[in-house]
Amino acid sequence: MRIIKVRDYQDMSRKAANVLSAQIILKPNCVLGLATGSTPIGLYDQLVDWYGKGDLDFALVKTVNLDEYVGLPAYNDQSYIYFMEKHLYSRVNLDPQNVNIPNGMNADPQAECRRYEKIIDDLGGIDLQLLGIGNNGHIGFNEPDNIFYRKTHVVDLTESTIEANKRFFEDVSMVPRQAITMGVGTIMQAKKIVMIANGEGKAPIVKEAFSKEINPLIPASILQLHPDFTLIADEAALSLMDV
Ligand code: GLP
Repeated sequence: MRIIKVRDYQDMSRKAANVLSAQIILKPNCVLGLATGSTPIGLYDQLVDWYGKGDLDFALVKTVNLDEYVGLPAYNDQSYIYFMEKHLYSRVNLDPQNVNIPNGMNADPQAECRRYEKIIDDLGGIDLQLLGIGNNGHIGFNEPDNIFYRKTHVVDLTESTIEANKRFFEDVSMVPRQAITMGVGTIMQAKKIVMIANGEGKAPIVKEAFSKEINPLIPASILQLHPDFTLIADEAALSLMDV
C-alpha cells in the first residue's frame, strides 16, 4: 500500500488525474474502472481540461463503473449514469459503445449482475480502478458485512449510506434502498487501484481502514492486500493516521 499525502482537494484531484492520464497514455485502449460521489468530480474536471488542450485522447478507452442504484432511470439526476454523462462521458471523446455501468432498471437485477460481471471478464479485467470511500468504509456499494462478496451483486444499502446520500435527494424517502455493485473480488482483480479521499469527515474511516486489521465490516480494509494500491488523500483525511 502506497499513501500519497496531498495538500487539499485540488492537489488530490490533479495528482489522481495525472495517474489516470499516465494510464491512458501508456495504454490507449485501457479499461478504466470509474467511481461516482462528490470526491472524483475535481479529477473528472481535470481530465476534461487536459482533453480540451489535446493532451488526452479517450477514443479507445473503455470504462466500467463500480455501481448503480436499483430503480433510478437514466434521466433521474441522482442515477450514476446521469452523473457520469454530466461529469465525463459527454465532455470527452469516449465512444458510447465503450462505456459500461450496471443497469439499475433491469427487471431482473440478478441477471444484470451476471451480465455486468461478464462484460468485465470479456474486456480482460480492469487496468486501473478508481475508488472513493464511504463513511462506513464501503467501496463501490460493498457495505459492511460478515463476508466480502466476490462478484457483482445486489446490495441492500445500510442506514448510514442512505443517511449520507440523502443530501442529494429531495427527501430521504427518495433514496433508493438497493444498488448493484461490483464485488470486492471484482475490484481486487484490477491490476492497479487508486483511492481518493479528502476532508476531515473521512479521517476516522481512513484510519480504520488502513491502519488496522483487515475486516469485512470495513470493506475498504481489504485493499491493504492489493499488490498495487495507492491512496491519494489530503492532510485532513490523513489527520488521524501516522503517515
Ligand atoms: C457513494 C458511492 C461510492 C463513493 C462513496 C463516497 O455511495 N457508491 O462509490 O465512493 O459513496 O462518496 P463521496 O465521494 O461523495 O464521499
